[in-house]
Amino acid sequence: MQKPLTKKAGFGIVLTLNPATYCPKNRIYKKMLAIISDLHGNIEALKNVMDDIRSKGIKDIVCLGDVIGYGPNPAECIDIAMGLKITLRGNHEEAAVNSGSYGFRSHAQKALNWTKKELYPGIFCSAEKKARWEFISNLPLSHKDGEMIFVHGSPRDPIWEYILRYDTEVLFDEIPAKLKDIFSMIPWLCFNGHTHDPGIITEESDFLTPKEIGEAFEVKRNRKYIINVGSVGQPRDSDPRACYATFDGASVRYYRIEYDIAKVQEKIFAIPEIDRRNGERLGSGQ
Ligand SMILES: [Fe+2]
Repeated sequence: MQKPLTKKAGFGIVLTLNPATYCPKNRIYKKMLAIISDLHGNIEALKNVMDDIRSKGIKDIVCLGDVIGYGPNPAECIDIAMGLKITLRGNHEEAAVNSGSYGFRSHAQKALNWTKKELYPGIFCSAEKKARWEFISNLPLSHKDGEMIFVHGSPRDPIWEYILRYDTEVLFDEIPAKLKDIFSMIPWLCFNGHTHDPGIITEESDFLTPKEIGEAFEVKRNRKYIINVGSVGQPRDSDPRACYATFDGASVRYYRIEYDIAKVQEKIFAIPEIDRRNGERLGSGQ
């Protein structure tokens, strides 16, 4: 954990500066942003992540989509997402309200069908249920804030396209065309999710895992980056803890948060329409 910084403010007064909101390099205060993605109906993971974000005093939270799907608590996760600054549309929201689960693997398809049944508002349903459906039906595809763009998948195809670790493999000293094309659409930073695999992709086609960067990375003003913030509710980088990231205007920082995995697994195993594999994989972060 970072230690608070102290700074003399004159007249013997010493200010305690929260390192999360103070940028020593630029010597200015920055507004902190937390970015979460791929909650996937996992309320236990989401609650602990939200507590951790709040403990840092961060109020601006952007959610990059896939609030629902796979997990047993889609309604509860939507209720939290409705209170965030921005929530984008993921492929699971798109499948639930528009395209259907065509193209999903069977375990994702089964869970989506159950999720849709849970959320779909009937004529006599509660106002809350209607509001949730309305919310996931109207989520934006992307968000732009200055030179930063936010998407679920990629700037080329915000809902469906994966930018994978594998896409950064360089052959014959050539930066892959897919990456070149995607970077041409990014002004400075692109925050995304979808793969559930956290890491930072550079213009040189490096994929830097949170471990490799020591969980924090200072972005350069004259370089572009794709920053995958990982998954809150179903990590797939072999670390089962919930994952999210913060950005303070200069550095990206990754956090891993413990939660009661066994409790979520029990809930999943008790719902026959949800494939057991969706619970089992939570234990290994795969
Ligand atoms: Fe996802």
